[in-house]
Amino acid sequence: MIVAVDGPTASGKGTIAKALAAHFGLPHLDTGLLYRAVGRQVALHGGDPDDPADALAACTFPDALLKEETLRSEAAGSLASRVSVHPAVRRALYDRQRAFALQPGGAVLDGRDIGTVIAPEAQVKLFVTASVAERAHRRWLEMSARGIAVDLAAMERDIAARDDRDMNRADAPLMAAPGALVLDTTTLGREEAIAAAIEAVGARLSAPPTPPGA
Ligand code: DC
Repeated sequence: MIVAVDGPTASGKGTIAKALAAHFGLPHLDTGLLYRAVGRQVALHGGDPDDPADALAACTFPDALLKEETLRSEAAGSLASRVSVHPAVRRALYDRQRAFALQPGGAVLDGRDIGTVIAPEAQVKLFVTASVAERAHRRWLEMSARGIAVDLAAMERDIAARDDRDMNRADAPLMAAPGALVLDTTTLGREEAIAAAIEAVGARLSAPPTPPGA
């Protein structure tokens, strides 16, 4: 079974994808990390993330980079969003994601274009979302807990800018795949959101298959 979990930043999609993978016993890939690694590699080499050639060259990043704590930072997320607009970068990362999705037994992948591009045949597609204010607040809490001082209003502006770039890029923009279950986590706590996702996936799996052309 392939489970595609898409959604904007700080929507809870990563937490939900991890929990679904544990619950259903499937391997999980956080595809955002791949774009974050490309962004970080560009920065390490003094390149320009908005330049398609620099960004493409960074796609050969060493796998060890995926383990770096710095990839979790807001700066890395923003660099990832910038390199992800280049079609050549998306193409370069496609095979790795596709192979992960197609492994025997299935997988859970989370990102922006899993249900639309990477695995459009996924048996279950979830689109996890939440209001910009709530997502900014979550990120702010997370950073504050790590002792990083951030301005909530600035965080909200950054998240809105990232949404705008991810949703309006020409290639594989962030959107709910046709037939995706939309899960709005704005008013849900962590455990509630996970329970709602597990229930939604379970319901989808026990539903009779949709006849072709329906
Ligand atoms: O999920 P994340 O915040 O780690 O993703 C960082 C950026 O990477 C995101 O703003 C857009 C890009 N991305 C993408 O374009 N496609 C994906 N499947 C995953 C992430």
